[in-house]
Amino acid sequence: LPPKYFYDERGSELFERITRLPEYYQTRTELRVLRDIAPGVVRRHGVADLVELGSGSSRKTSVLLDAMREARTLRRYVPFDVCPEAVLAAAGRLRGEYPALDLHGVAGDFDHHLGGVPEPDGDGRRLVAFLGGTIGNLEPGARVPFLRSVAGLLGPGDILLVGTDLAGDPARIRRAYDDAEGVTAQFNLNVLRVLNRELDGDFDLDAFAHVALYDPGPPWIEMRLRSTRDQTVRLGALDLEVEFARGEEMRTEISCKFTRPMVEEMYARAGLELVEWHEDPRGWFGVSVARSAA
Ligand code: SAH
Ligand code: AVI
Repeated sequence: LPPKYFYDERGSELFERITRLPEYYQTRTELRVLRDIAPGVVRRHGVADLVELGSGSSRKTSVLLDAMREARTLRRYVPFDVCPEAVLAAAGRLRGEYPALDLHGVAGDFDHHLGGVPEPDGDGRRLVAFLGGTIGNLEPGARVPFLRSVAGLLGPGDILLVGTDLAGDPARIRRAYDDAEGVTAQFNLNVLRVLNRELDGDFDLDAFAHVALYDPGPPWIEMRLRSTRDQTVRLGALDLEVEFARGEEMRTEISCKFTRPMVEEMYARAGLELVEWHEDPRGWFGVSVARSAA
């Protein structure tokens, strides 16, 4: 499923809980990298206008906003997310923390509504951020077209900052998607609740079990839901009945793990070029900076 279907209000709250789990190393590792690099990136590129796609709680964003404030370039922040509750909550919090900031939230789908991002004003540069590794939740064939459309937001001198979870120890990575507390299981099952609501479905959440599987080929994590009995599910809005055999699994999410060459190739195919590559000392999470190649 495209990632947007996971993030209704409840899904966004569950994801926030995931980011605090001991097994989910991604958020705290990316935050550490951002803390190290934010002042330099902001200074080198003169960043005044920050647009963040899939901004969620905007919790990590403060590191970039602080660096912009420090460099006295801070002008505007555009949190852009498909979950309106997340955008409103983030904007409300940030209004108090950065009174001088021009905040322009967008509740929209980054596959369709990038036109809702306001034109840059003034002469400072723009930074478009796509953090958390969300690019890995897009189907491989969707990533380059997505990046091409994002490149349309970049003028001369503007930059794109992307977080990517990196390929590594399969056991560590798999654990991050199958935590002991079962929060990821709830996050996965919640997508059935979304389908029930949006497509008039009758998925029984108690009849499916969370599965996390590491496939070294792509490499990626698959979240799946395994039917715990023979059953038929109806999706009224699609006039569709789906039969599940006991033990049958459906894939609900992919979360791709990258290497630097994979990221470079993806940028090149989207008309972008990698200008900076940063990762934590253990090589678990990568943050890259790119600009238009032309
Ligand atoms: N950037 C945050 C949140 C990552 S979770 C972090 O790094 O912690 C992924 C976010 O992307 C969610 O908030 C979700 O609502 C948003 N998202 C997923 N698909 C989207 C789409 N098509 N358009 C806009 N936002 C989307
Ligand atoms: C938002 N995204 C990068 C998360 C990930 O790690 O793929 C979503 C997630 N799915 C399960 N746990 C977290």
